[in-house]
Order: sequence, then C-alpha cells, then structure tokens
Amino acid sequence: MMKQYKVAVIAGDGIGPEVLAEGIKVLEAVARLDGKFSVEFTHFPWGCQYYLQHGKMMDEDGLEQLKGFDAIYLGAVGYPGVPDNVSLGGLLLQIRRGFDQYINLRPVKLLQGAPCPLTGIHPGDIDMTVVRENSEGEYANVGARLYPGTPQEMALQTSVFSRKGTERVIRYAYELAKKEHKTLTSISKGNALGYSMVFWDQIFKEVGQDYPEVQTYSLLVDAASMFFVKDPQRFQIVVASNLFGDILTDLGAAIAGGMGLAAGANLNPEKKFPSMFEPIHGSAPDIAGQGISDPLASIWAVSQMLDDWGETGWGQQVLQAIETLLIEKKTLTPDLGGTAKTSDIGPAIVSLLEAR
Ligand code: IPM
Ligand code: MN
Repeated sequence: MMKQYKVAVIAGDGIGPEVLAEGIKVLEAVARLDGKFSVEFTHFPWGCQYYLQHGKMMDEDGLEQLKGFDAIYLGAVGYPGVPDNVSLGGLLLQIRRGFDQYINLRPVKLLQGAPCPLTGIHPGDIDMTVVRENSEGEYANVGARLYPGTPQEMALQTSVFSRKGTERVIRYAYELAKKEHKTLTSISKGNALGYSMVFWDQIFKEVGQDYPEVQTYSLLVDAASMFFVKDPQRFQIVVASNLFGDILTDLGAAIAGGMGLAAGANLNPEKKFPSMFEPIHGSAPDIAGQGISDPLASIWAVSQMLDDWGETGWGQQVLQAIETLLIEKKTLTPDLGGTAKTSDIGPAIVSLLEAR
C-alpha cells in the first residue's frame, strides 16, 4: 500500500511563504520519483497577519489541530508591528514546547561550492551536527517584572535545567556520536554559571559512563565560539543548551555558507508528537516579496524531514542536489552571487533529482 505523509505547512511571515513554496516543489517531486509514498500538504494561515486580525498567533486549539500530522513545515515567524516575543512565544516556541520537540538538530556543514568567510578552510573541514536543547534551559520563560516604572524596577529571567531535560538531550547526542562514530563536544559555562552549567557538566560526565567508546571534549561557550572560527575541524557532534545552541548555530551558519543555507529539525524523538522542520533564518521582512530570498535552507529542511521519516536515501539525494547546484553556480539567488529568482530554485533542484 502507498504510504502517505501528512505535512502541516505553517508558512508564516515575511519570506516564509516564498521559501517554503520551493521546498514543497521538491518534496512533491521526491514523492513522484519515489512512487511508493505520497505527501499531502495542509496549509495553516497562522502568523503575524493572523495575529493582527484575530489577536492570536494561532488558534487556541492549534496544537490539537497539528497533532495528527507526520511533520510540520515552518517558514518564518515575526513581522514589524507585532513584538517578537509575542509572535515567537505564540507560535514557534509554543510548538517546540507543546510538542516536546526537545532536540533541535542543526547541521553545520560546508558544502562544496558554498561560500565560507574563513581562510584556509575547505569543504569537509566543517562538518558538524549541533544538538541543541530545545525545550527548557534559558528559554524556559520563567521570570518576573517587578516595580515597573520605579527606580527599583527589575526583571528576573530564570533558566531551568531539569535532570530529565538535561539527560535526554545529552544522551541523544551520545547516541548520535556512537552511531556515527564521531567525537562529541559539550558546550557549557561552568566557570561562571555555577548552578546550571556545573549541573550540565556533571550530567555530561555521568551519561558518558554509558558511552566509553565515544571520545568527548568539554568547552566553555566563549572558547567554543573562538574555535568555531579558528579551528572548526575539531567539532563533529556538538551538544549545547538552548541559548548557547541558538547562538552557536548562527555562527555555524555564518561559517558554512550563510543563513540562506541553515536548516534545523525540531524533533520529538519518541514521535509522540509531530516534529517540525524549518529554515533557521528569520522572516527577513526587508526582502520579502521580491523573489530574491534563498530557499536552500528550506529545501535542506525537507532533506531533514525525509531523514526523519526513514527515507534517508532521499534525504541524501536532496542534500546532494543542493551541493550540485552550489557547484554548478548556474541557478543561485543573489545572496550566493547568482541572479536566479527564489522560484527558480525548486525547479532546478527537481531537475537535478530527475537527472540522477
Ligand atoms: C532560532 C530562532 C529562534 C530561537 C527565535 C526566533 C525565537 O532564533 O530558531 O534559532 O531563538 O530559537
Ligand atoms: Mn536562532
């Protein structure tokens, strides 16, 4: 029987819709070429426009509506006129937390043909996977504003590092390192954050007892940032807290082709809830609607989706097609030095897949 994957599309704001449109073309083509599965897309109108009309970023029962899907494909969230903490807190972060997508898997891989601002670095030198904690930590959204408008005014923002939350992300990273025969680097800041990060380091050691075969390193986040630039070869699997992982993966994007090529998978590994796949760049309102945004990150997110479904052959093929496009340099958007339109990229990837 033909398998059918149901994908919830939340294109969102700014360039979200235009970049997702290309990924959808690619996913449709993959299904057609494979012949053994089909993909059904359901579009949700949620985002800042929706907020301005309805006073909410998504429906109250939004998570309920999304629950039965095999994946969520998210474009971008955020637009001038809606405060970022409202738009993100009401949609993206709501889904990550609500669906317990506690792993954020972010490849930082310099493909052949992709631009790199570092000197003396070649494709192959940068090939890591950042495993970012995605459900708690610095993003726990616990805090208070006290004495507003007075000289004593203060803001409290508390990080939450639970044993369960810390253990599961670290264990996931160890498993990945073991499976892929790679080294594992833990990022923390135990020299200054004497509670949360000392705890993180302790759990990293404890869980490591179960993985004697995995070669590990521990780095402070500031030093790690320096090494991302000076010596990125040293990283293979990297595990980090929510905020550190967020910051490091923008840096990772900068050294591995730019934001136009940065994808991320928000995973609920138990598959109790759908996982969510997205380009990690923002909504870029300044260039939205001009047809110049780069959809390669969205297409890379499709590759991650295929991997997650166990269609790993196709995940590979899509990634390879992205690399071929970069090497050929015939059909690229302006950020990568080309003159192609956003809407040319999907068809170009599809042609490469057809020609395999
Ligand atoms: C990301 C983004 C989000 C994050 C923002 C938009 C809340 O920067 O996915 O990396 O910080 O997680
Ligand atoms: Mn980010």
